[in-house]
Formats: sequence, structure tokens, C-alpha cells
Amino acid sequence: MAFELPPLRYENDALAPHISAETIEYHYGKHHTAYVNNLNKLTEGKPEAEKSLEELIKTSDGGVFNNAAQVWNHTFYWNSMKPKGGGKPGAKLAGMIDASFGSLDAFKEQFKKAAAGQFGSGWAWLVADGAKLAIMTTGNADLPLAHGKKALLTCDVWEHAYYLDYQNRRPDYLTAWVDNLVNWEFAEKNLG
Ligand code: FE2
Repeated sequence: MAFELPPLRYENDALAPHISAETIEYHYGKHHTAYVNNLNKLTEGKPEAEKSLEELIKTSDGGVFNNAAQVWNHTFYWNSMKPKGGGKPGAKLAGMIDASFGSLDAFKEQFKKAAAGQFGSGWAWLVADGAKLAIMTTGNADLPLAHGKKALLTCDVWEHAYYLDYQNRRPDYLTAWVDNLVNWEFAEKNLG
């Protein structure tokens, strides 16, 4: 069965002004779509085509890993945001953030610093490692699942995620992301 592009849960302009409809049109409509199409081309008629994205991520390398991981990462990224996001996490997650980082504000600063410092293309993550939360960055298509960690949230720091709206100002994109877009309910759901 072919891999499919999951539908976006909000309209293309729903994250504006923090992320424009134009960025979503390219990022979801072109980039995410291309990863799905590439994965289908690479796996067509092969046993890999019957595997889940998670199985492919754990068992493949090269182009299959890169495209499977980028399909998974982008779906996770769209779900890590919501219109009128930001604000504060629920009590359970808030308590874990306080215990792990000191406060929500301290988490935001550490997350932005880590994401701004990821050299080149990649991702910034909030991950759960047992009862403890941690910030993790990965390069290119790499992701926590490949390192035995559970992802709660991700922010895409590839230039295609922010260049149309912020040009080279990655820190401004990150501030808008943590203050106005992050979907804390999704993160808490991922605690399981
Ligand atoms: Fe991306």
C-alpha cells in the first residue's frame, strides 16, 4: 500500500501571521508531498512498501530512511502546532517541565537556544526519557525514534520552514513558535 500525505488539521492560513499560508503551501504542499512521493518511488513493489513508517525508520538507511523519517517528522510537526497555540501546558506536563527545566520560561529559553544552535537543517524536539523531559536537536532527517527516545513536540528548523516569513531570522521564528503556535495538548497526549 502506498504511503499517503496525511491531511492538515487546519487551513493553510490558520497559523498566520506567525507562519503564512504561502509557507504552508510550499512546506506542506511541496516539501512534505515530495517526501511522500519519493518514499513511494523508492519502495514501490518492495517489501518495504508494506511496512509502517516507524518500522522503516528503525530498519532502513539511506534514501528510504531519509524520506520515511521526513514524512514522519513533518506530520509530527504539523500536529505540534495549532492556531492560537502557545500558552501553558496542562497540569501533568507543566509539572514535568518544571521538574526538568525549572520553569516553563526556562524551558522556552533552552528550547529556542538549542533550536537556534542546530547547525544547518534539522529539528528541535521535546522528548521524554522515562519520567524526565529533555530537549534534543537532530540534523537533516534524524529523529528521536531512531535513538530510542519518545518525541512529544518538534519544531522544524530547515530553512524551508521559515525563510519566506523570516528570511535568516531563525530566532524570531522560534520565538513565534514557542509563544503562539505550540500545541501543548498534543505534547501531553504523546506522554501516553
Ligand atoms: Fe520541513
